[in-house]
Amino acid sequence: MQSIYLIGFMGSGKTTVADQLGKYYQLPVQDTDQMIEAMQNKKIKQIFAEEGEHQFRQYEHDVLTTTESNNCIIATGGGIIEQDRNVHWLKDKQVIYLQTSWPEIVNRLKDEGDRPIWQDQNRDKEQLLLSREQKYLEAATYVIRTDGKSIDLLVKEIIEVITTS
Ligand code: S3P
Repeated sequence: MQSIYLIGFMGSGKTTVADQLGKYYQLPVQDTDQMIEAMQNKKIKQIFAEEGEHQFRQYEHDVLTTTESNNCIIATGGGIIEQDRNVHWLKDKQVIYLQTSWPEIVNRLKDEGDRPIWQDQNRDKEQLLLSREQKYLEAATYVIRTDGKSIDLLVKEIIEVITTS
């Protein structure tokens, strides 16, 4: 089976949904953030602080292109579509966009302390979501709306869309 790539903004549920899909399909799960942390032996937060976002984006591109295009479930970082080359690379893959509204994201991330972009007071995150929307849609094969849905329901919807395609 073609690997399933999950894309979406921070807080859209990519990591949790990927784990559940991995269990259902009995396939390994990869996570681009975890791959970067393992490769650099540093937390994402530390990479942003010490090396900057630009370097992080380079690592992100490098790991994305080493993911398995078959028989794997892959959770990506929310900014994976910031680079056109990544959008281009994702275009012939099986990509699910977990589309989430701004109020829902704010609600889910209200106690979040680890994500450097979410913590950055100088960035307008709502504007960031707006500016990314078109790129998520461009990279996506399927769009699944997540507002008000449980992880179980999201997983069900994804399985259905994949099975019937
Ligand atoms: C980022 C999202 C994060 C992580 C990094 C940058 C972003 O991943 O890759 O902090 O630019 O939106 P999650 O979407 O898993 O939080």
